Amino acid sequence: MTFNKVVVAGGGVLGSQIAYQAAYSGKEVTIWLRSQGSITRTQPKLDALREEYRKAIALMDTPEGKSPANWCKGLAIDEEHFNAAKCLEQSENAYKNIKLELDLAKACEDADLIIESMAEITDEKIAFYKKLAPVLKEKTVIVTNSSTLLPSTFAKFTGRPEKYCSLHFANHIWKQNLAEVMAQEATDPNVFADVMEFANEISMIPVPVLKEKSGYLLNSLLVPFLLCGMDLVANGVSDPASVDKAWKLGTGSPRGPFEIIDVVGLTTAYNIIEKYQKVPGLIKPLLKKMMLPYNFKAIAAMLKEKIDQGKLGKAAGEGFYKY
Ligand SMILES: NC(=O)c1ccc[n+]([C@@H]2O[C@H](COP(=O)([O-])OP(=O)(O)OC[C@H]3O[C@@H](n4cnc5c(N)ncnc54)[C@H](O)[C@@H]3O)[C@@H](O)[C@H]2O)c1
Repeated sequence: MTFNKVVVAGGGVLGSQIAYQAAYSGKEVTIWLRSQGSITRTQPKLDALREEYRKAIALMDTPEGKSPANWCKGLAIDEEHFNAAKCLEQSENAYKNIKLELDLAKACEDADLIIESMAEITDEKIAFYKKLAPVLKEKTVIVTNSSTLLPSTFAKFTGRPEKYCSLHFANHIWKQNLAEVMAQEATDPNVFADVMEFANEISMIPVPVLKEKSGYLLNSLLVPFLLCGMDLVANGVSDPASVDKAWKLGTGSPRGPFEIIDVVGLTTAYNIIEKYQKVPGLIKPLLKKMMLPYNFKAIAAMLKEKIDQGKLGKAAGEGFYKY
């Protein structure tokens, strides 16, 4: 089944990007929002995205814009498929055509696909699915963009567990166009294939995650990698530049762990470490077994020292490196 009528539930950072990218790709898009206040917060995000797309297309039309670092694969997969005027027209049409709707039943009555991208709060997502289930037609498929919550937590509240899975995007979806499609136990393989195809149609590069896995593929690799790098420095084994050098020279990768942390932001890294440290005593030994014996305390102290000095990462001009 091809999904043409798409509803995005939630118009935050990611919801607005998903809606804009789907509309850019010619889908009929409605963003469902819960209040007038949400509309006044979402509209400026769409205004900003229109400007982002305009700037990205203009850059891609210059020699500098052709470099892999600047090229936005979500806007045109390669130079051969790039026509600046056509891309600009697609973006302007997206901006004009996205509908904002407060009435859930009206927004979703004929939807092919609902993309839930609401705040990461389990109870609120459950309440939403319970409200949503009775207003949907049988054909409608639902996906969640949740980064940390597993789809099996919500499947039974959707009224259609076989038509439910995760479709996880990365921030700046027009550029970082990875889409992780993750099944839960009840997901129908045909629905899974349709969701993979939809991701393709909106110029994402989909990867299948056939079993539930917290962290999907990317974060299952990235989080332990970054923790290992920080552990080496926090334990006095080496310094950030040398750890990055070892990784880059040894593997040919463009960035080492500390260069990545500077881009992600030290506060985000610190918050994740704090979360691990606050795990209740009873399951700590289990976590220790699973997570290897990282020195979380030393890592947190190292990050906190930098954060207190305003060295928050690349966006702040300095993190582990100066920019
Ligand atoms: N920010 C990221 O980089 C990123 C990346 C991938 C996935 N995600 C996931 O996307 C989802 C949204 O994240 P975000 O960064 O866009 O968050 P956000 O805080 O920017 O936006 C959340 C949106 O949900 C709405 N919302 C919150 N509670 C609601 C409720 N009870 N009913 C209806 N609407 C409600 C808010 O009004 C807002 O529009 C989360 O599940 C998150 O894990 C985020």
